[in-house]
Amino acid sequence: MKKCEITLTVNGEQLTTMVAANQTLLEVLRENLGMTETKYGCGTGECGACTVLLDGTKPILSCLTLAAAMDGRHITTAAGLARDGQLHPVQQAFVDESGIQCGFCTPGMVMKTVGILARTPNPSDEEIRHGLEGNICRCTGYAKIVSSVKRAAELMADQSAAE
Ligand code: FES
Ligand code: FES
Repeated sequence: MKKCEITLTVNGEQLTTMVAANQTLLEVLRENLGMTETKYGCGTGECGACTVLLDGTKPILSCLTLAAAMDGRHITTAAGLARDGQLHPVQQAFVDESGIQCGFCTPGMVMKTVGILARTPNPSDEEIRHGLEGNICRCTGYAKIVSSVKRAAELMADQSAAE
């Protein structure tokens, strides 16, 4: 299949790669660019493991997104959240609240949480559960993930107050 060149800014770094017209963003991140922190779960839009951020705060399913359509766009993966060796508040909250067991769903959960808190800085439990719909975790039973999102909201509010 004919390939075309695209340029993506991933975690602040501009990267150019050749993609086939039917290649997904998930395939390009993992296979072309070696960014395996974005997980391949179902590949069909059912599990949320492949969630990345478009333009900083918009969660998208990279397994359902054609890479060619992302030419020129900004993508953030879980590896792009930390700053100056410090975990992002959302990542720290998942550690603090033990919202991680096997960790397979965690990159997608973290990216989805960044999106939830960008829209709703102080979400209720119901808003969190609604916001996380589509992200499946086989391990935690979700209660600790909801606690993690609440903790993340607190940490982000503290961070904003300190700035
Ligand atoms: S791998 Fe994309 S939703 Fe499951
Ligand atoms: S921690 Fe194992 S799938 Fe969520």
